[in-house]
Amino acid sequence: MTTIPKHRPTLNATTGAAHARIWGVGGYRPERVIDNNEICERIDSTDQWIRERTGIVTRYQARPDETVVDMGSAAALEALKAAGVTASQVDAVIVATVTHPYQTPAAAPMIADQIGATPAAAFDISAACAGYCHGIAVANDMIRGGSAQFVLVIGVEKLSEFNDRTDRGSAFIFGDGAGASLVGPSDFPGISPTVWGSDGAKWKTISSRNSWIEFRDEDTEWPAITMEGQSVFRWAVYSMAPIAQAALDAAGIKAEDLDAFIPHQANMRIIDALVKQLKLPEHVAIARDIADTGNTSAASVPLATQRMLDSGQAPHGGLALQIAFGAGLVYAAQVIVLP
Ligand SMILES: CC(C)(COP(=O)(O)OP(=O)(O)OC[C@H]1O[C@@H](n2cnc3c(N)ncnc32)[C@H](O)[C@@H]1OP(=O)(O)O)[C@@H](O)C(=O)NCCC(=O)NCCS
Repeated sequence: MTTIPKHRPTLNATTGAAHARIWGVGGYRPERVIDNNEICERIDSTDQWIRERTGIVTRYQARPDETVVDMGSAAALEALKAAGVTASQVDAVIVATVTHPYQTPAAAPMIADQIGATPAAAFDISAACAGYCHGIAVANDMIRGGSAQFVLVIGVEKLSEFNDRTDRGSAFIFGDGAGASLVGPSDFPGISPTVWGSDGAKWKTISSRNSWIEFRDEDTEWPAITMEGQSVFRWAVYSMAPIAQAALDAAGIKAEDLDAFIPHQANMRIIDALVKQLKLPEHVAIARDIADTGNTSAASVPLATQRMLDSGQAPHGGLALQIAFGAGLVYAAQVIVLP
């Protein structure tokens, strides 16, 4: 047992709001649209194959001078506007990304500065495609724990810089973009307990081709992101449905209580398989943003959410199950009340 020195005072501890919820969502898609035919200029494939195997028709590509910080800032400003909260009210900025091109500093302080949210706490999290859902879990607990009142959670990727445009196994999947949520206090539970976890033994199934050290010392190729498509596909289809179900159970709701299902936009066939396994009823709107936007990794869930809300496909105030999974391998799922 620890002996407590007599002179040691008791520290203050915080407690926060009873609950948290998402107040507003924003998204940013770059101007340039890349169709499958353009992808097929560099790989031996066809528009038809890409559509049938992935559901992807187009994806967006950022300008060479357009950075993760620029795109993240644009999405964040939209989320603030939707929430009716000013940048100066933000206590913390969490950025989920794997494509910020600086090892250090993180993108979050740069975004906080660009949108005028200084001196908010600002840090990046590295959980690949699941990063945004991890960020929502962290923001929820920060607000309820009393370390912040308003938290911006941003998922942003410029995957066009980090994919191999000549790799037949992945060149067609990825897109650029940013999505963001402003999370704040609530008098009802707006974010359910998160079901999350990892399986690091499978780290090689989606990873950079080599490390920065190998790139420097061994004159290897650019450390582009590559994946073992079939292994990832099987893992996502068979392992993620039970996680999504566990998130429903943790929230204390049933599939029929949902208004929307917003899974990571990895592959349309993965989305369809999850819908089937979860036995989602007809009335549940399914996010299928992947057709237009491709797989934008950390940005995919908030971008899909923004599109569903803006198009009226999902109702404001309704319940949405969101689940994301990716490199690590890592995953996170929770039910949210749509803003
Ligand atoms: C990448 C992916 C679309 C490949 O689809 P798949 O159905 O698994 O394809 P396979 O690798 O089994 O290949 C099937 C056939 O298509 C061919 N093929 C592979 N890539 C091709 C391409 N780009 N264009 C045309 N044909 C292709 C293969 O050569 C193979 O031909 P064969 O049957 O004559 O041998 C799919 O595995 C996938 O989406 N995986 C998950 C990826 C993902 O979600 N990543 C992000 C996770 S966050």
